[in-house]
Amino acid sequence: MASSEIWTEKYRPEKFEEIVGQEEIIKRVRSLAQGLNIPHLMFAGPAGTGKSTLALIIVKELFGNSWRDNYLELNASDERGIDVVRQKVKDFARTRAIANVPFKVIFLDEADALTREAQQALRRTMENFTATCRFILSCNYSSKIIDPIQSRCAIFRFRPLT
Ligand SMILES: Nc1ncnc2c1ncn2[C@@H]1O[C@H](COP(=O)(O)OP(=O)(O)OP(=O)(O)O)[C@@H](O)[C@H]1O
Ligand SMILES: [Mg+2]
Repeated sequence: MASSEIWTEKYRPEKFEEIVGQEEIIKRVRSLAQGLNIPHLMFAGPAGTGKSTLALIIVKELFGNSWRDNYLELNASDERGIDVVRQKVKDFARTRAIANVPFKVIFLDEADALTREAQQALRRTMENFTATCRFILSCNYSSKIIDPIQSRCAIFRFRPLT
C-alpha cells in the first residue's frame, strides 16, 4: 500500500461533523441515519469529495460497534461483473441485520461503470432485497445510471471541495 493511501485512511473523517462542505447532504443524511431508516441512496460527484467516507459514517451511526457485520462494500467495476455482485449481495442478505435496524447496507462503488444490461440486473437485485437491504450507489455521473435505478434512490450530488 502506498503511503498516500495510508494517509487518507489516517485522516478519513469518522463523524458527520468532520466532513468538509456538503452541508445540505450531511444535514439530510444525518437525520435519516439517526431515524434508523434510510432509503436507497445515490452519491454522485467527483472523486475524493467524501462519498465513501460518508457511507462509512452512516453505517457506524446505524449499527455502532457491529457495523462490520452489517455493511458490504463492493466495486461495480470489478472485472468479474454483475453476477459476482449479485451473488455477494445474495450471500450477505441471507442473514438478518441486528437489533433495531431492519436492514443491512450495501455500498456499491463506481456504479456508473456497469453497462445498461448490468444495471437492469442490479435493479432487479435491489427490488428483490429491498426488505432486508439498503443500497448506497456511488458514481461520478448520475446521468450514466438508468432511470429505474435513479427513481428508486434519494440522489445526493457532491460538490468539488474548494
Ligand atoms: N468532504 C470531505 N471532508 C473531509 N475529508 C474528505 C472529504 N472528501 C474527501 N475527504 C478525504 O479524502 C479521502 C478520500 O475520500 P473518499 O474516499 O470519501 O472520496 P470519494 O468521494 O469516495 O472518491 P471516489 O469517487 O474516488 O471513490 C478520505 O480519506 C478523506 O479523508
Ligand atoms: Mg469512494
